[in-house]
Amino acid sequence: MINELKEKYEQLFSNKPDVVVRAPGRINLIGEHTDYNDGFVLPAAINKAIYIAVGKRKDQEVRLYSMDFKTSYSTDLHSLVPIKSWATYITGVVAQILKAGGNINGFNLVMFGDVPLGAGLSSSAAVECSVAFAINELYNLGYTKMELVQFSQRAEHEFAGVKCGLMDQFASIFGKKNHVVKLDCRSLDYEYFPLNMTDVSIVLMDTGVKHSLASSEYNTRRLQCEEGIAAIQKKYPAVQKLRDATYEMLNEMVDVESAVYKRCLYVITEIERVQKACIDLQQNRIEAFGKKMYATHDGLSELYEVSCPELDFLVNEVRDDSAILGARMMGGGFGGCTINLIKSNDVDAVLNRVGLAYQKAFNKSLLSYTVNIEEGASFA
Ligand code: GLA
Repeated sequence: MINELKEKYEQLFSNKPDVVVRAPGRINLIGEHTDYNDGFVLPAAINKAIYIAVGKRKDQEVRLYSMDFKTSYSTDLHSLVPIKSWATYITGVVAQILKAGGNINGFNLVMFGDVPLGAGLSSSAAVECSVAFAINELYNLGYTKMELVQFSQRAEHEFAGVKCGLMDQFASIFGKKNHVVKLDCRSLDYEYFPLNMTDVSIVLMDTGVKHSLASSEYNTRRLQCEEGIAAIQKKYPAVQKLRDATYEMLNEMVDVESAVYKRCLYVITEIERVQKACIDLQQNRIEAFGKKMYATHDGLSELYEVSCPELDFLVNEVRDDSAILGARMMGGGFGGCTINLIKSNDVDAVLNRVGLAYQKAFNKSLLSYTVNIEEGASFA
């Protein structure tokens, strides 16, 4: 495919690209909706990525072509505005680079990817990170990896309208082969953990439900967390984020019958759970780790209310099967995939069984992906 990408570039722009880059999608083992609450996450980059070929222009034009959508988009470097198209994830990053004072001219770009769209694997973050990485190289801008992550995150806020945390873009840039990375979303310190789960495969089961509610409901969840903090701050002004809050503070300051209470209860528990789960992983207690994944799912479904019937079904189907060590919905929610840790020898049998049950329950075939953990953004 890389060759086809380069060929397409040459065909469209009559010269060779200056850089060709890949940026991967991500999984997250545990720590969901904790990133924007200054908690911890445990993501990894996967073997599904966005690939772009990019070349300099002498003028201020930006010429883009998507091989997946078979459409092009052109604009001027100085009139970048959010649009409802794949191109917004590219121009959004360029706008951030310009805002930061990056000295760039126009460019040509061709893109293709094999990160499934709307499946919760962060295809949009992969696009953003590929662009940040490529433009940084193309114009020799010298931004750090963390700055590239932050440009990409802000592009998502300002050009896609999703007030996301840092996890997806961080994983796409900082991922490391065969490792998960624990990120402290407050200090931005991170630590790699080798994932040596012998004979266990990471399998994603895709509901096929596109998370259309995701952006509006995502932003609502974020606001509810902030509402919880505002209530707690009335008595405990040192609390900046839910990372600082305790169960006692929550019970004292927030109405236990309210939705805000349920949201905060989930987040406080999940932040604690990720830290314990990391210890399980370090000590190779995969079964204990897996149990925490189920607990996360239940919190996301019952308290944070970001699941959907298809996700709940897929998790419940595997819950009592000893071939599956842990499973939960993954990512923002309202569709996309579940992540499952399955004994490698049993993967086919499990997928057959769950696939039949899913077909029967929802009249839909179940897509699945067995993923490998790969390096973050790199030259391709
Ligand atoms: C989306 C966001 C992330 C994170 C997850 C939920 O993927 O982009 O920042 O908040 O949802 O954990």
